[in-house]
Amino acid sequence: MTAQPLYYDCDTGIDDSMALAYLLASPEIDLVGVGTVSGNTDSVQAAHNTLALIQLSGRDDIPVAVGAAGPQVGSYAGPVPHIHGHNGIGDIIVPEPDRPVAALDAADLILQLARTHAGELRLLSTGPLTNLAEALRRAPELPTLVKDVTIMGGAAYQCGNISPVAEANIGNDPEAAADVLAADWDITLVPLDVTLAHTLEEEDRTLLLDSGRPLPTALGDMLDLYFDFYLATYGRRCSAIHDPLAAAIAVGGIVPTLAPVVDVVVDTTHGPGRGQTICDLRGRYLAYPPQPGAHCRVVLETGPDTPAHLLKRLLSL
Ligand code: BDR
Ligand code: CA
Repeated sequence: MTAQPLYYDCDTGIDDSMALAYLLASPEIDLVGVGTVSGNTDSVQAAHNTLALIQLSGRDDIPVAVGAAGPQVGSYAGPVPHIHGHNGIGDIIVPEPDRPVAALDAADLILQLARTHAGELRLLSTGPLTNLAEALRRAPELPTLVKDVTIMGGAAYQCGNISPVAEANIGNDPEAAADVLAADWDITLVPLDVTLAHTLEEEDRTLLLDSGRPLPTALGDMLDLYFDFYLATYGRRCSAIHDPLAAAIAVGGIVPTLAPVVDVVVDTTHGPGRGQTICDLRGRYLAYPPQPGAHCRVVLETGPDTPAHLLKRLLSL
């Protein structure tokens, strides 16, 4: 099996860190670059976190580019220390990175990699979609160079997590998300419906902490704060698996069990619907005509072994 080139765009972030670790542990793909965007923390801190975590895994060959400081419209809403800590990675201390960030920005890194791996490059995004939208703006032919795009974001039947209807990655830059979802490429959307449906538990965190390996141990450490945040959601200390699930689906380690291909549009109005991912799922209930232009696979379910798969791979690092 030839490892497929994959670019990862993120707002590193506790669950982004888990997704990064999952990618580093995945023989199916070759992580050829990472770009950061402001979300859970600002894009500069996110790049710093990313370099430090890659270094913890023993790698020093993956370029990390700083991306957009804020969304297309308005300004960055700021970090979320109660969820991801003041440094984005749960306030844990990790060794300073020995390497600098890449000389080019994230949008240009995407374009450089797409041209180098024309027709082969896979994109994974687990933050606001500002960098992907900017790359599309700079090179509208980008979809012809890219194999597919996987996005953690949105909510299909679920309610939102930053407004009644908006999920954070989409709601923090709805215009960018609208551009990316409208572009002509194969998209897999991994929304809250499925990422909230599975959890990592305290015994999983203990296994990470006891792994004896630097990166899994750091993940176990940072999950402490994340588990505190999710106490209110689940009634126990555990966490949702947003970004690592998207990584696993992008890589093919987890194959969705329910994922219709439907039309999806993003609400960019400035009313209460702003940031909603409107997924046309009427076909589930009605003899509704097929949607010939649909190019977005919306993941609604994955199997019960989902958390066990994620944990096993994180422990293999
Ligand atoms: C998404 O928002 C971020 O806080 C998480 O890292 C995840 O990508 C969940 O809504
Ligand atoms: Ca994220």
